Amino acid sequence: MQCSELLLRARWPDLMYPAAARVARIPLRPFASLTKESKIIYIAAAAPEATEHMELATERLILRRFREEDVDVMAQLFANPDFMRFSLGVFTERKQTVAFIEKVMGWDRAGIPSQFAVVPRGEDAIVGYCGFFHHAEVPGEVEIGYRLHPDYWNRGLITEAARAVRDHAFADLKLPRVISLIHPENSPSRRVAEKNGMTVEKEIIFCGFPTQVYAITRDEWLANRDAS
Ligand SMILES: CC(C)(COP(=O)(O)OP(=O)(O)OC[C@H]1O[C@@H](n2cnc3c(N)ncnc32)[C@H](O)[C@@H]1OP(=O)(O)O)[C@@H](O)C(=O)NCCC(=O)NCCS
Repeated sequence: MQCSELLLRARWPDLMYPAAARVARIPLRPFASLTKESKIIYIAAAAPEATEHMELATERLILRRFREEDVDVMAQLFANPDFMRFSLGVFTERKQTVAFIEKVMGWDRAGIPSQFAVVPRGEDAIVGYCGFFHHAEVPGEVEIGYRLHPDYWNRGLITEAARAVRDHAFADLKLPRVISLIHPENSPSRRVAEKNGMTVEKEIIFCGFPTQVYAITRDEWLANRDAS
């Protein structure tokens, strides 16, 4: 999906996010009269700048919006081959990191589901990202994607982050479903998706590589939430 298309979809969200569009079509009325869940969609659709500073908090993590000043720390992460496992390769130029941050900050400004910087509670540094991606190769889908500094692997941190992002997708943004696109040999990431309640729906070729499409629908999420 090209940037211009994303901006178009941001201005007319019913192209992509029916729940947001439904609320966006409601004429202006007192904010207090909206339900709690609608308020978040309403803010995203009608005044996207209001969600720019949104944070998600988990037991051990703060997931916060990216900022321009995150370029240096993110450039170091993107240059790390372990952080960039199962990608098209490490970033060799600073402008690639600048482009990533500009892209996700643009989504934030437009109120489009976006990425979060992963910051352990009590620490200042970003150790990864977890949040939403949009891909031209899988139109109409919203992906939960993540990467973490290898020093922090296997502590359950991305499982914790991905669950918070999934809950945000369904409880706040009312997305109908979310997916994760994972190489079949990426066992840790497949495990994270499974722990996030996702199941393999199909295998596709994505960016030239075999890729498993893990998915969970809002209905499945609601059913499991009600069962537990
Ligand atoms: C994928 C990634 C984000 C996982 O982060 P994490 O915080 O270590 O994940 P968690 O600790 O929450 O869960 C990892 C799970 O994988 C399991 N795991 C780790 N290495 C494994 C391996 N080689 N084979 C099978 N399972 C493995 C862990 O045991 C754990 O499962 P468990 O809780 O059942 O024991 C991290 O490995 C990473 O950044 N990898 C490089 C980038 C990447 O691949 N991103 C995903 C692209 S789709």
